[in-house]
Amino acid sequence: MGERNKTSKIIAVGNQKGGVGKTTNTLHLAAALGELGKKSLIIDLDANCGSTRGLGLGTDWLGAFEVLLGDQDPTDAIVTTDPGEGTELPKNVDLIPARRNLEDFEAEFRKRNKFADPTLTLQEPLARLGGTYDFIFLDTAPNASAPTIAAYRTAEWFILSTEASKLSVDGLNDALTDILAVREAGNANLRLLGVIMCKVDSRTRIATTYVEKIRSEFAAAGELGAFETLITRATALERAQGQGKTLFQTEPDHKVAEQFRSLAREFLARLETAAKINEPKPVMAKEAANA
Ligand SMILES: Nc1ncnc2c1ncn2[C@@H]1O[C@H](COP(=O)(O)OP(=O)(O)O)[C@@H](O)[C@H]1O
Ligand SMILES: [Mg+2]
Repeated sequence: MGERNKTSKIIAVGNQKGGVGKTTNTLHLAAALGELGKKSLIIDLDANCGSTRGLGLGTDWLGAFEVLLGDQDPTDAIVTTDPGEGTELPKNVDLIPARRNLEDFEAEFRKRNKFADPTLTLQEPLARLGGTYDFIFLDTAPNASAPTIAAYRTAEWFILSTEASKLSVDGLNDALTDILAVREAGNANLRLLGVIMCKVDSRTRIATTYVEKIRSEFAAAGELGAFETLITRATALERAQGQGKTLFQTEPDHKVAEQFRSLAREFLARLETAAKINEPKPVMAKEAANA
């Protein structure tokens, strides 16, 4: 497929809260990057199978469960667009799907490996994938399940997905503390690439207040902050999801598709800047996270 001599950038998309756009933003960011000729693989690490269903697949494909257990080679678990199989993914986007049984992964792993660590099971599969993709997005679950922890522990970059709402602003310290905890737990190089703020209702002043609050919290913590591009609330996204497609396949001219294109450009620019600096961000002070 691709060259083997480059490496894919591994990006975990997370938030321990559910329903905050992790999956929607992952799928649409990958699709927008795909339009620019960048190739992405999404690995669905949530037993709720959001990415899998969001890309129109049923939840009976072999995938993340088998790959994490080492039962299947990751390249054999990749689903691509294939009319014969009835799969239609956005351009330049592939998927390793999930099934409900992902919630049994840790128990199954422990049954087979008494002394190994179920949260270190992504490293080998990702290494095997080599540089086939520009980006590998890890879509995670809003809980501390082994596949989600594995994503946090293995990724090089973290994107926090959040709504611009009171509840989400209240949860920001938790999110910052999680990132810090991951660094302390052994992935010292995990860097926050940015915060995607979604479901923004740009007509209300209150939403603007939350957007500003989120920006200032991350600036205070010394982290790369929220992306400039805001993703507004749009029912078109839910319509697309209902069809198992992204906006790029259903309504590519929609305002929100344009926002994701802008987000993709920002994403690439941040990575380019980071590559130039090539230095991990300093581990932020605990005080800042708890302030
Ligand atoms: N910008 C948005 N506008 C409107 N609805 C959205 C938007 N982003 C996500 N949603 C909807 O919110 C719900 C939760 O989003 P999802 O991406 O599944 O969150 P998570 O993966 O964090 O649980 C889904 O029904 C999705 O269609
Ligand atoms: Mg999800």
